[in-house]
This record gives sequence, C-alpha cells and structure tokens, in this order.
Amino acid sequence: MIFLALTITLLFTFVQVGALNNGLALTPPMGWLTWERFRCNVNCTVDPDNCISEKLIKTMADHIVTDGYRDVGYEYVCIDNCWMLPSRDEHGRLVADPDRFPSGMKGLSDYIHGKGLKLGIYEDFGVFTCGKKYPGSEFYLKTDADTFANWGVDLLKFDTCNSNPSDFEYGFPAMEFYLNKTGRPILFSCEWPHGQHGKSNYTAIRNTCNMWRTGIDVQDSWDSVMGVIDVYAEDMENFSQYSGPGGWADPDMLVVGDFGLSYEQERAQFGMWAMFASPLLMSVDLRNIRNESKALLQNKNILAINQDPMGKQATLKMKMLKNSIYVFTRPLTNSRIAVALLNKSDRGTPTSVTIKGSDVGLSNQNGYNVVDGFTAQSMGSFLPTSDIVLNVNPSGIVLFVATPK
Ligand code: GLA
Repeated sequence: MIFLALTITLLFTFVQVGALNNGLALTPPMGWLTWERFRCNVNCTVDPDNCISEKLIKTMADHIVTDGYRDVGYEYVCIDNCWMLPSRDEHGRLVADPDRFPSGMKGLSDYIHGKGLKLGIYEDFGVFTCGKKYPGSEFYLKTDADTFANWGVDLLKFDTCNSNPSDFEYGFPAMEFYLNKTGRPILFSCEWPHGQHGKSNYTAIRNTCNMWRTGIDVQDSWDSVMGVIDVYAEDMENFSQYSGPGGWADPDMLVVGDFGLSYEQERAQFGMWAMFASPLLMSVDLRNIRNESKALLQNKNILAINQDPMGKQATLKMKMLKNSIYVFTRPLTNSRIAVALLNKSDRGTPTSVTIKGSDVGLSNQNGYNVVDGFTAQSMGSFLPTSDIVLNVNPSGIVLFVATPK
C-alpha cells in the first residue's frame, strides 16, 4: 500500500514537473548521426577509420565545419549505440570505451563545443541497448542523466529495446525529469512511439520529448525511404498534429550521399523531410560524399522550408494516377503553401501530372507566384482555377512554393 502511494506520488511529480520546458528545438534539429552509415563497428584494430570512436566523431565534426555544413545549420554531432563498455563502473556509472574514446566523453564534448557544435549520445530505456551488448538505463535513469550532463552532452537519443512498452508513459517523463533537474539543456530524442508501433499517447510524448521516432529504422534503399514516407501518408492517429516548435515527429536519418539512392531519390528524401518539418540528421561519410549530394544537403531553399518557424508538418492531400503520385501540402509562414508531388512509379519516363490550384489549397482569388522549391526559380503565376502541369521523374519529386499576391 505504502509502495503504491509512493509510486503514485512519484508519478504525479513527474507529470507535474516533467513537462518539457527546455527551450530547445524551436525548429527541427539538424546534425549528423553515426548509426545508419557506421552501425556498431567497434573493431578499431581492423577498421580504425570507420569504427565508432572519438577519431570518427572528431573527423566528422571537422568536416561539418570546414565543408560548410555548420554554416547552413547542421549542429548536433551524435553518437548512436556501441560507444560504451559492457559494464558500469563501481558507482554504477556508464563508461565510454577508453580504447576508442581515449579523451573520455568530456574531452570529446570539449572538442565538439570548441567547434561551435553540440554533442549527442545514445542510451536505451531498457535493461540493455539494442543488440544486448551494452547496459541500458533501467534502474539508472538519474545516474545516467547526471553522467550525461557532467560530460557536457547536448542531446540524448533514448531507445526502447529490451524494455516493456507499457512502462514508457511514466519512464520517459521520468528521464525527462532527471535531465531537466541537471540544469543542462539536453535535447530529448525519444523512440517511444516506434517502440509502441505508433499506437501511442502523442499528447504525453509531445509533453516529454523534443523529437520522437515515428516508425521503422530507415535503411539505405528507396524501398525503405518510401516505407517511411508511407507512414507519414497514413498519418496514424493524426500524429502530424503534434509536431511543432519544441517537439518534432522524427522519420529517422537522411541517407542522402550513401550507397542506396539515386540522385532523384536523394532529392525526394531530402524534399520530403523538409515537407515533414523533420529533424535533419545526416548519416553519411562526410570524407567522401559526392558533390551533388553535399550540395543537396546544403540547399538553402529546401532548408528554409524545413526550418520554417511555423513548424507545420505536411499532410497527404491526395493520391493520383492509380496511387502512383502522392501530393503533400504544407502551410508556411506568410500564408505561403509548399506542395510536393512524389512519383512512386518506377516506369522509366517522367509522369505528366495536371493539378488545379484549388486542389492543393491555392484559394487566394488574386492568385499566387510559384517558385521551384529547390532552385527558387519562377514557375509562373497561378489562380485557384488554373491548371498546373508538371512532369515528375520516376521515384522523383517536384516541390514548389506558392506565395499569395
Ligand atoms: C534501434 C534504433 C536505431 C539505432 C539502433 C542502434 O534499431 O531504432 O535508430 O539507434 O537501435 O542499435
């Protein structure tokens, strides 16, 4: 009985105090994350240039600065799973593998901060992290929050492997409570809805997390990227309505510049992540990225759509031509509207699509000036009654921004 009362009191405290109020992520967070490209490669003897280590993280941070990514907004340099030793120390604290992180996490965060960047780290709400090789935070939430704050960590990605999904609704707020208590602003990136297969209490998630993974892990293929886009098209439980300044639905990393996507598909992923107001976390080897992929990741017109301060997530407006064309719309500041047409078909020729202005929300009777979302070049002027004729490449995107006259 006493235990129950104590639990309820604690829960009440978390609900009261744990509401997210860290002032972070007013626009979608931008940065780089190890996982999709570098995985759990811990063998620095065999593969010293690609293993999860401070050398890799520092090298990527250097490229983020010298190659212009920081200047366009990429800020968080994030380490995913596989950075720690398999056991905690005698005080119950997590330990970064000293062979791979010889400066320690504090040394690494000093380096990252010295470059004007921020450091992200990964842990798991369960007993172990995914893969079961490393200790999770269960029973150590406060200790781990304090450790991360002492190390100067700026973002925590909190996973859900090896835990009970019914515990998330109090466990994630508890972690947010302890992060807040450290006094250090730490962006809280949760895998909560992913771990519950999308059937979640989004109000509670929005009150707890600065970003939350909506679905499956993205992989390096068009099928995978399209699978993520389908989750957004379906918009299960209207999750689009919860995204906005301070908290963002997260479709997972950008795979632009990796092995699996064509240039058209890279444009499509980047354009759709902008439409969705998604966090932009690149997972790519910045040492040898193709020039066209780099230019895409630094496209200021698309980044401006992604970072639009109103922060509304695009929703599916309609499907056309036997569901091969998806049309998404996103309201932007100053009554502008972004429209994306995505061609799911792999037939090897562009598809000609005709839409009426009013079909995609262009209702201003004086009409709109329309520009290409990637190039900012004029595509003409259209009325609500106008037909807009567009050619959309196979597995490609046409994205335009309409400004009312
Ligand atoms: C899960 C997450 C991924 C990544 C891996 C690391 O699969 O969804 O994003 O963090 O774990 O093991």
